[in-house]
Amino acid sequence: MEQTLVVEMKNITKRFPGVLANENVNLQLHKGEVLALLGENGAGKSTLMNMLVGLYRPDEGQIFVNGKHVVINSPQDSMALGIGMIHQEFMLVGNLSVAENIILGLKDLPTVPPISEINEKIIELSKKYELKVDPTRLVETLTVGEQQRVEILKLLYRGADILILDEPTAVLTPKESKELNKILKKMLSEGKSAIFITHKMIEVLEFSETLMVLRKGKCVGIKPTSSIEKLSEIANLMVGRPVLFDLKKGPYNPGKVRVELKNVSVNSKAHSRKTLDNISFTIREGEILGIAGVAGNGQQPLSEVITGLLKINEGSILIDGQDFTNKTPLQIIKAGISHIPADRGRMGIVGDMSVGENLSMKKYRTEELSHHSVINKSKVREFASRLIEKFVIKTPNQFTSAKFLSGGNIQKTILAREINSCKGILIAVYPSRGLDVGAIESVRQNIIAQRDKGSAILLVSEELDELRTVCDKIAVMFEGRIMDIMDAENASTERIGLLMAGVERSTECNS
Ligand SMILES: Nc1ncnc2c1ncn2[C@@H]1O[C@H](COP(=O)(O)OP(=O)(O)O)[C@@H](O)[C@H]1O
Ligand SMILES: [Mg+2]
Repeated sequence: MEQTLVVEMKNITKRFPGVLANENVNLQLHKGEVLALLGENGAGKSTLMNMLVGLYRPDEGQIFVNGKHVVINSPQDSMALGIGMIHQEFMLVGNLSVAENIILGLKDLPTVPPISEINEKIIELSKKYELKVDPTRLVETLTVGEQQRVEILKLLYRGADILILDEPTAVLTPKESKELNKILKKMLSEGKSAIFITHKMIEVLEFSETLMVLRKGKCVGIKPTSSIEKLSEIANLMVGRPVLFDLKKGPYNPGKVRVELKNVSVNSKAHSRKTLDNISFTIREGEILGIAGVAGNGQQPLSEVITGLLKINEGSILIDGQDFTNKTPLQIIKAGISHIPADRGRMGIVGDMSVGENLSMKKYRTEELSHHSVINKSKVREFASRLIEKFVIKTPNQFTSAKFLSGGNIQKTILAREINSCKGILIAVYPSRGLDVGAIESVRQNIIAQRDKGSAILLVSEELDELRTVCDKIAVMFEGRIMDIMDAENASTERIGLLMAGVERSTECNS
């Protein structure tokens, strides 16, 4: 690795009302290096990077790019310096084509070149980096993995040499993140450099040369990745206390059946293959049924048929023995089902409402928070502060708009509300996706506590260790079908992996 410094941030401090987001942070990035930036949700990672691309200005401190002191006032300024960022939330326009998205916002063009020329250049770049995308397709028809390729191409098209990737793999399948790894390696071999924000510690080891950890806005460690002997070292730095992942779980003591699916099928609008194909299972009191599988194999539709968001074509759904087939979401909420949806931003939270309002949304009509239909404001405030404390939600206060919280804290807000209002059935879809280690530990422990209290829980996850430590039973989904349901205790990683890849039971020895 060459030791040329390409980016240097010196003594950077950034305040938001009520929050010190970055405090006296020093960061160095060398040519050809991947720097992994780590830290719990709300540690200040995105803020620090947003200052490199001109979305925020530091209150104190200086930035140097290629040895020169610079003031970055806008994304155009940063692009002119060769810096480009892929944000946590993609910033593509769905009803424009790939090519249109790639040239969107290019200010320095005197005239826009003909689309055929642009398409050609995109095809050339995508060949060079093995980033398969068709420039003429509409972005809204692309998978998340493909959209990310467009974001990368956008940066390459603009000639970025310093790439910032904010949690690029949080939404990718394992296969897609392997491809991303390959693309990154190729870019680095050409002398580009990258800052990579992630929560997945295995990735840190694979992707980076150096790692830097932020905690509560401050840098608490910079180390060569090769010096790390145990993953727990990184986790401990991030959280500031030892993380055990040692979950407290009572004995498995299933009671009566709460949820039953009988031969449920959903036809697909796009494929001849069914979205859900003859699904049957039960979930009992005090039981967690895990759903394993590569994302996109029917997990989301499965959670949606149970919560009434998607209609089924065949079969039936019973709750406590009563027929709930194709009932409305409201009827299903009334039957006592809580839902932690996969898409937190759109379905889980009202961004313009305060954290406190979001927390009490499902409870304010109940006697706990109102009397004769009049809301008791002081009780609501008390209730919200109790949940903020219990679920360790990092927010300046309960009156802050929910949209200002970091992704992980939005997730904790939803979780706190749903778990608190849970009447015994919980459908949790990727509840720990994109969260940091500390938050993951608390999400898992909270779900288990709910099961120990007798709830029936469906947990959709891609993390095998999560499924195996949290669940009592694991069902593996592939192409809309359930390949097998097994006891979590006896489920080997190898077997789950085979089933996830669609390898049938019959082709294996009896296990
Ligand atoms: N635009 C903003 N206005 C107010 N507070 C913000 C804003 N952006 C971030 N914050 C706060 O700054 C802190 C750091 O956030 P962020 O940089 O997003 O963390 P991370 O990316 O490490 O999860 C958090 O407490 C967050 O709520
Ligand atoms: Mg962030």
